Amino acid sequence: MPHHRSVVEIILPEPSLVVLIGAAGSGKSTFAARHFAPTEVLSSDRYRAILAGDEADQSVTKAAFARLHRDLTSRLLAGVLTVVDATNVEPSARRALLVRARTAGVPALAIVLDLPDTIVLARNAARRPRTVDESVIHRHLARLRRSLDGPGPGLGTEGFAAITTLHDPTEVDQVVIRRDPGPLSPLDR
Ligand code: CTP
Ligand code: MG
Repeated sequence: MPHHRSVVEIILPEPSLVVLIGAAGSGKSTFAARHFAPTEVLSSDRYRAILAGDEADQSVTKAAFARLHRDLTSRLLAGVLTVVDATNVEPSARRALLVRARTAGVPALAIVLDLPDTIVLARNAARRPRTVDESVIHRHLARLRRSLDGPGPGLGTEGFAAITTLHDPTEVDQVVIRRDPGPLSPLDR
């Protein structure tokens, strides 16, 4: 039976932390490029490229995330909306982001690309110049499943102000993102 889902609308308070969650190949960077300015997006692959000249170089993962976390803290303390483009399928990876949002007093929102495994694997296989090892993608998909369906406490208990889970490419394509600047400050009136 076909699904008849209505268009998903995501309302982002400004500022906020937007955490993209999804396996390699699920379309996080594509989504980020479509909906956000390049300067709003902190991408783990981009930091790998900056540090090692290669966005796939896993040997600099630790340093890449150290920089990403540092810049995230700076941006959130400055009160600017920031998107983290990394797989974020591990609870510990999300925790490192959530703690920084909390410190800055900024809400964190999750956008989950929970696409069918077959689509993620096919996109990865078609990818040039770089495909990710399939075993890695299977691991990401399993970690994501566990975060969404348990066992364990799960995404809903981690401290996100809102979680939007997108289940198929059509739903992802149709998402509408609105920004909520919040109440006008007295200086704006
Ligand atoms: N893609 C697609 N249609 C979409 C979204 C993505 O065909 N609606 C393709 C992209 O062109 C790319 C592949 O799927 O070749 C993976 O998309 P990408 O946005 O790069 O996925 P990420 O989740 O960012 O993957 P990674 O974690 O490895 O960076
Ligand atoms: Mg990407």
